[in-house]
Amino acid sequence: CGIVGHVTSQQPSGRTLEVLLEGLGRLEYRGYDSAGVALAVPDTPKVATAKRAGKLANLRAALEQHPLPAATAGIGHTRWATHGAPTDVNAHPHVADGGRLALIHNGIVENFVPLKAELLAEGVEFASETDTEVAAHLLAREYAASGDLTAALRGVARRLEGTFTLLAVHADHPDVVVGARHDSPLVVGLGEGENFLGSDVAAFIAFTREALELGQDQVVTITPDAVTVTDFDGNPAEGRRYTVDWDASAAEKGGFGSFMDKEIHDQPKAVADTLLGRLDERGRLQLDDLRIDEALLRSVDKIIVVACGTAAYAGHVAKYAIEHWCRIPVEVELAHEFRYRDPIVTPRTLVVAVSQSGETMDTLMAVRHAREQGAKVVAIVNTHGSTIPRESDAVLYTHAGPEIAVASTKAFLSQITAAYVLGLYLAQLRGNKFPDEIRQTLAELREMPAKIQIILDRAQKVRDVARSMADEKSVLFLGRHVGYPVAMEGALKLKELAYIHAEGFAAGELKHGPIALIDEGQAVIVVVPSPKGRDSLHSKVVSNIQEVRARGARTLVVAEDGDDDVVPFADEVFRIPASPTLLSPLLAVVPLQIFACELATAKGLDVDQPRNLAKSVTVE
Ligand code: G6P
Repeated sequence: CGIVGHVTSQQPSGRTLEVLLEGLGRLEYRGYDSAGVALAVPDTPKVATAKRAGKLANLRAALEQHPLPAATAGIGHTRWATHGAPTDVNAHPHVADGGRLALIHNGIVENFVPLKAELLAEGVEFASETDTEVAAHLLAREYAASGDLTAALRGVARRLEGTFTLLAVHADHPDVVVGARHDSPLVVGLGEGENFLGSDVAAFIAFTREALELGQDQVVTITPDAVTVTDFDGNPAEGRRYTVDWDASAAEKGGFGSFMDKEIHDQPKAVADTLLGRLDERGRLQLDDLRIDEALLRSVDKIIVVACGTAAYAGHVAKYAIEHWCRIPVEVELAHEFRYRDPIVTPRTLVVAVSQSGETMDTLMAVRHAREQGAKVVAIVNTHGSTIPRESDAVLYTHAGPEIAVASTKAFLSQITAAYVLGLYLAQLRGNKFPDEIRQTLAELREMPAKIQIILDRAQKVRDVARSMADEKSVLFLGRHVGYPVAMEGALKLKELAYIHAEGFAAGELKHGPIALIDEGQAVIVVVPSPKGRDSLHSKVVSNIQEVRARGARTLVVAEDGDDDVVPFADEVFRIPASPTLLSPLLAVVPLQIFACELATAKGLDVDQPRNLAKSVTVE
């Protein structure tokens, strides 16, 4: 979910609502099942609220029909439903205290059942099925006892189990917004005569770049001129101040039809920026924020990459590269699976957590679990100020800039790039490779942005084919070696964006089962490795194309320029420039992203906000 808060010293005006709606628009990637706002208006006994199921546009339409009064403080929420269906009633804010207070929540209140029973026994009436409403009524009860809104929120925070960011406003205090966080993000935006709260800086980036990052288990009170932070017991605490380096315009569509399309086109820059500044004056690679002893990194005997979704496929690519360069065994595991089995983790294990948002709860829990077992954690993350880097031992930021479209594209390419940098760094540190070889690979890496650009310039061919396939019911993707994770990512993109059944298979596995799926006209997309690559990899994949074609498949092939071997067996060929095999995923995935985006667009779907998904999943 996304949350935003605002308070201003101005006379009551439409400013607060404008700030909230702008922030919610930028936070909608965190969930778009419903949206709502609550405003505190001086000398008015109740808060004014509006909320609607569905996307923010529904709330905007409702506000046009029934405008809210001018205000001085407010909170806004965009929801990804956990408890209770995405309806108007279950939308946040939730009100309590006879409509005098309103509260919004990101996370899950795990002990909401006993708390609700306790409140019901006291005669409290509930309007919704959400866990959040419990927190609203608890806050009302605490406030009735003390008359101090901040102290009351601290009381609530101490009672809740689970994860939460809470924001609340009360009609008695039209110049205050209070917030609390536990295992869920909250950032303060510092303005002049006004202050902001947000689940991330996107919430207020249009208004201020000065931010204050809150620590774990803190409560914050913002007024127009002051920000006060304490822990849950009321002891004074301090946040970390920083200036946000993201340009608000980087979060605009910039002439493209969708964020997805724009972000696909941002990829040459995302890869180039992720490589930037990684070499020191002696030509040695360096990480951004390294809190791990180099001697310890030299002694690492196993690497485990933990991640979810697209980031996990970046991890699979990393395995091929890091094992080859460093000769350290690398495992890749979905963070939620890693966390709940009994993984073998020792102080010599290096865990690499890959996450665009830096907030994915499954990945965060895996990080904590790994550190509890004594492992060191390096985070590969795109979002500064997020939780995973703060809880890790070292960070390698992917400089992809803000990624707004829910399905990941440029963050994926920069995660792969950062993983290469990490692999080369470890190889250098452990003396596995000669400096010349590292330099050579870095030089090849630097050529990749220009090669990605070539693919983008040729995208029309992919688009035309994609448009012709809008009625497809199922598409299979095949790849070997690093082409295998590329195939899985291509299939994921198609599922996410176009709602078409798609599977990515290791091409060698085809004959062990998936080939039974092939019949007349079945679309199969094959990622073909470089003919100059290792051993017989290329010819094996060409054979796989023939095997499916012989059984009636329609073959769409991603192949290097000049690879003529594929031509006789391919219905369509999407060309990519030649590159070293290990680096080739940075190229091969691009036509697959364009394919999914264009096909979904042809079907009239919203490629930026696919149904049921959220960009930042902050619940387990
Ligand atoms: C969500 C998104 C995916 C993303 C995954 C991991 O499920 O819909 O696109 O790959 O989370 O997100 P992260 O921010 O950790 O990379």
